[in-house]
Amino acid sequence: MTFSTKDIEPFIAFEKNGWEKAAGAYHDHWGALSAQSALPMLDLAGIKQGALVLDVATGAGYIAAAARSIGATPIGLDFSGAQVELARKIYPDIEFLEGDAQDLPFDDQTFDSVVMGFGMNHLPEPEKAAQEAWRVLKPGGAFAFSVWAAPAAGEGFGIVLSAIERHGVPNAKLPEAPPYFRFADPIEVKAMLTAAGFGEIATVVASQVWRHSDPDEMFDAFNKGAVRATAMLQSQPENARAKIRDAVRAEVRELMKGEDYLIPVPASLSVGFKQS
Ligand SMILES: C[S@@+](CC[C@H](N)C(=O)[O-])C[C@H]1O[C@@H](n2cnc3c(N)ncnc32)[C@H](O)[C@@H]1O
Repeated sequence: MTFSTKDIEPFIAFEKNGWEKAAGAYHDHWGALSAQSALPMLDLAGIKQGALVLDVATGAGYIAAAARSIGATPIGLDFSGAQVELARKIYPDIEFLEGDAQDLPFDDQTFDSVVMGFGMNHLPEPEKAAQEAWRVLKPGGAFAFSVWAAPAAGEGFGIVLSAIERHGVPNAKLPEAPPYFRFADPIEVKAMLTAAGFGEIATVVASQVWRHSDPDEMFDAFNKGAVRATAMLQSQPENARAKIRDAVRAEVRELMKGEDYLIPVPASLSVGFKQS
């Protein structure tokens, strides 16, 4: 089955409900990982001191905070009230608003740059988000976004997804969803950004390392702190979930260095510029 128009509303409801519940757990489990590509993304977009930056799907505000650390002025936006509340609590001096990435509540040509960390893979119509980023950008402005790199053996997503494939049962209860790793493919990125009006498009891979002291921490992150992966794991029968946990733990143990487990979880970073 492929994702189609009739699947959009159920998918939005699933994501919205999921992020309202997972905001705190995502911050606890994933925040230190996803924040690693914030500065590289700002660099890719050429964001400098004084720039007005919109951080779409901001979550707890990591990229907005990184933008502020280099002297830019960020505004964070997220469709989850729980995420916005958390972001305001962590960074009280940054402005955070509730709003939809696919229908931005800003005038045309407002921002010098628009960024989105690990959000594209949660949108039912990512093309609309790219068009909206283009609309609110000033001429010459950059739209940069990160997604998780496609799953590979010995890396975070590859380890967990292959354990689910080997030990899980098919998840009949999950709503139809767009392909999760679509924008890890530079060809897909180029097609979408070109259609939205961007040029000078580039995609690079940024290495990120998840440092854990307990070999079950990565399984817990997927099991508690995400939306699609969490639903996938939570809908497994207990014995299947236990086998998945054991399989993930066994692979994580292979990645011990010193006292910690160092798990590679690369990100794919893309950028396009609004042609003046
Ligand atoms: C994986 S988290 C990423 C959070 C943060 N940007 C980061 O880099 O860690 C995905 C975020 O996208 C938000 N999100 C999902 N769909 C959205 C939409 N249509 N509009 C705005 N935010 C959305 C979720 O609420 C969640 O905060």
